[in-house]
This record gives sequence, C-alpha cells and structure tokens, in this order.
Amino acid sequence: MTIIDGKAVSANLREKIKAEAALLPEKPGLAVILVGDDPASQTYVKNKKLACEQCGFYSEEYRLPASTTQEELLLLIEKLNCDDKINGILVQLPVPEHIDDVAVIQAISPEKDVDAFGYENVGKIMIGNFHYVPCTPAGVMQLLKAYNIEIGGKNAVVVGRSNIVGKPQAMLLLHANATVTIAHSKTANLADVTKNADILVSAVGIPKFIKKDMVKDGAVVIDVGMNRDENGKLCGDVDFEAVKDKTSYITPVPGGVGPMTITMLMQNTLESKKQQIQKNK
Ligand code: GUN
Repeated sequence: MTIIDGKAVSANLREKIKAEAALLPEKPGLAVILVGDDPASQTYVKNKKLACEQCGFYSEEYRLPASTTQEELLLLIEKLNCDDKINGILVQLPVPEHIDDVAVIQAISPEKDVDAFGYENVGKIMIGNFHYVPCTPAGVMQLLKAYNIEIGGKNAVVVGRSNIVGKPQAMLLLHANATVTIAHSKTANLADVTKNADILVSAVGIPKFIKKDMVKDGAVVIDVGMNRDENGKLCGDVDFEAVKDKTSYITPVPGGVGPMTITMLMQNTLESKKQQIQKNK
C-alpha cells in the first residue's frame, strides 16, 4: 500500500509552474473575489493569494461585504474581463443567497474562467477539447499520473455528482478510457457499486463514509472529502485507518487531494496567460 503524497506532487508542480511563468514576458494574473465573511472561504482565498506569490504571479484580491448587490459584483467582473493584467477571475463559492451564482459564473469571460465552471468550459470538457478543467478533478488526475496509475480499461467509480467535482471528475476519467460509474446519495446498494471499483473517488462530504467493506482489494482510493469528525478534527470521506491496508494506493486527508487544488488553479491561470500572449502575437 502506498500513501499518495499530495504535498510533494503539488510542490513539484508549483516549481514547474513558477519556472514556466518566469520565462513569459508578463506575469500571469489572478483576481480572487470573496463576498461575505465565511471563515472557510477566507482561508481558501488567503491560500490562493499565497500560491500566486509562490509561483511569481500577479494577484488582486477583492473582499466584498455580504451586502454587495449582484449588480455591483457583475460590474466588477466586467471590469476584470477587460483588464489585460488579469488572466483568471475566481469568485469564491458559495456567494450569499441574494446573488445568483449561475449569473455570476456566466458573467466571467470563458477565457478567464479558470475554475471552468461556465457553460462554455463545461461543454468543452464534455466534448474532450478543453484548456481548463475544474481544479479539484484536475488535481486528482495529476496525482494518478504522478504515481503512474493506469486508468485505461479500469472500472472507476465516482461517488458524488456535484458540478465542481463529481461530474467533471467522471468526464476526465472517461476521457482517460476508464469505464466510469457515477454513484450518489440515491444509489441503491452503494457498496455493491463501490466494491467494483479499481479506482474509487469519493466526493460526498460525509466523514468516514467509505468503509472497509465498500472497497475492493487492491483498489486505488482517492478521497476528495474535507470534513470535520466528531472531535472537530479534519478528515476525509474515507475511513482511512480501516480502509488503507486493503488498497494499493490511497490519499490521506489532509495532504492528499487538497494541496493539488490550488496548484491546478495556478496551472489554469498560467495556461490563460499563454493563450493571451499567443492571441496578441
Ligand atoms: N468553493 C469550493 N470550491 C471552490 C472552487 O474550486 N472554486 C470556487 N470558485 N469556489 C469554490
């Protein structure tokens, strides 16, 4: 059994991104917008800014009050859409209830939609002709690649069907020639489905939800969960201690998928800058 070291893979990739960015005539630029004061979102936004510094990127941070109107937010996005220094625009989700998140995502120019949440980028992912992939599923694919884990012809089961993780994750595994099943909270006999997985990706957000009897011997288990257990300790969707010895590879929480997510955001922002340079040639 090998514990996948997301921190090491992520650090390695950030070094590569930094080196590639340093060769460009201008720095890649990322704008991060946070509306309201959700503590978890504040931490994510802070880490995104730190990652930009680490990779030598230009960054702008907008911390707006929860009372910000949708119109004000759309105006800011419009301004950033027209700003050549900005290659990626990220609105931290969730936004307060009075703001329509679909309208906000759709307002971001597809070239700067480094989360790949807008219709155009989602459609490209579906077809398999994409520049940006949502950061968490992209990070999972990088982890599999870093450990030379074969995907083609394998049974992959994704538990969770969110737009941010489950659905794009399933598409990426499909493009890599896995036979993919998407399971979710309404799936009947879930254990029968997950036990069939050579590669099991869990993104349900329930602490220690994946138990030993749900995992096939020798499976690759990827845990996207970021939960708190009954003692307030960070834990994943997988009952790690009980499951780990049954697997061939497993990601820990923390230190597995988590560190990859922001690294993939940097990768997408770098990609956007490169496309802008190409277009202006
Ligand atoms: N909220 C939780 N995950 C994400 C993410 O990947 N991007 C954005 N914008 N908001 C999030």
